[in-house]
Amino acid sequence: MTMMKSPTSTSYLILAPVAILLLLFLLSSLNRTGAGGGSDGLGVLCARRAGTRHPTAAVSARAEAAEPELSLLVGILTMPKRRERRDIVRLAYALQPPAAGARVDVRFVFCNVTDPVEAALVALEIMHHGDIIVLDCAENMNDGKTYAYFSSVPRLFAAAPYDYVMKTDDDTYLRVAALVGELRPRPRDDVYLGYGYNMSGDPKLFMHGMGYVLSWDLASWVSTAEEILARNDTLGPEDLMLGKWLNLAGKGRNRYDLKPRMYDLSWDMDNLRPDSVAVHMLKDNSRWATTLRYFNVTAGIKPSKLYHLP
Ligand SMILES: *[C@@H]1O[C@H](CO)[C@@H](O)[C@H](O)[C@H]1NC(C)=O
Ligand SMILES: *[C@@H]1O[C@H](CO)[C@@H](O)[C@H](O)[C@H]1NC(C)=O
Ligand SMILES: *[C@@H]1O[C@H](CO)[C@@H](O)[C@H](O)[C@H]1NC(C)=O
Ligand SMILES: *[C@@H]1O[C@H](CO)[C@@H](O)[C@H](O)[C@H]1NC(C)=O
Repeated sequence: MTMMKSPTSTSYLILAPVAILLLLFLLSSLNRTGAGGGSDGLGVLCARRAGTRHPTAAVSARAEAAEPELSLLVGILTMPKRRERRDIVRLAYALQPPAAGARVDVRFVFCNVTDPVEAALVALEIMHHGDIIVLDCAENMNDGKTYAYFSSVPRLFAAAPYDYVMKTDDDTYLRVAALVGELRPRPRDDVYLGYGYNMSGDPKLFMHGMGYVLSWDLASWVSTAEEILARNDTLGPEDLMLGKWLNLAGKGRNRYDLKPRMYDLSWDMDNLRPDSVAVHMLKDNSRWATTLRYFNVTAGIKPSKLYHLP
């Protein structure tokens, strides 16, 4: 027995210098990777890990390096079959400059996908883009989808809450940096921000469905407020209803109207403005094209002999 111990400990003795050499080598290579950026090797690892936390965020991926000052989930309520529009909207977000200091995740939001063909195609999008949320609801205008969205989000993202949750449509061009600029100086609580509807003597009675933001505490409240369900207040004109929930509960006191920076594009498409936060009524490709041109989204295209565009 004692004879067997001796060779083992000898081999450890032989291995020890090798291990030390290996350690020194690893340390020096770690230092080398960090030297250029002025930080150490762990900085690189941490940055990479932060980047994969929300793998599919087109807008945020580039802006996420440091702990963000504010975070926003943008939910675009749409339907599986609106694939071409979704493609345009996805690119319109992806090509925007990052909003400095903010984490902005953009997701397309569906109710239950019931058609097997749609399911297969949606699965493709999920696997490639990872930017889709399917809620437990039946796809139907004015039938509780907004309620399903705001009441599900606090649970779905409980592990990594956002500061704000936005609802918008697939005919809205949202300029993320401009919106973040509006949100940055605002409170993080009890916020209801959008295009205010002036009705019944209240200029901000409720926010127009083109796009509005709730702070996380309000979304959490919606997800637990039994009074909304007891009154059957999940059905009907949804954006007006959302205003009603908040108004009856005395909530959303930090209320901001972003007119005129949020607006409907006119019939003649002649009312675009450089400081826009959201342009609504982009109901066909020509209206998208005009809007994307106006904001110089495609101005940076690289010249090449491979293509020519008018
Ligand atoms: C949505 O789909 C889920 C899972 O298949 C099902 O349990 C639920 O009842 C459906 N909800 C509606 C509103 O159809
Ligand atoms: C709201 O509407 C009322 C009545 O039409 C009008 O007098 C008031 O100026 C409007 N307020 C805003 C902020 O537009
Ligand atoms: C809500 O709707 C249900 C089913 O349609 C109905 O039975 C109930 O009376 C309604 N409640 C209120 C407060 O309107
Ligand atoms: C687009 O680019 C043109 C030419 O550089 C510039 O004059 C215009 O102000 C830009 N438009 C916007 C909305 O930034």
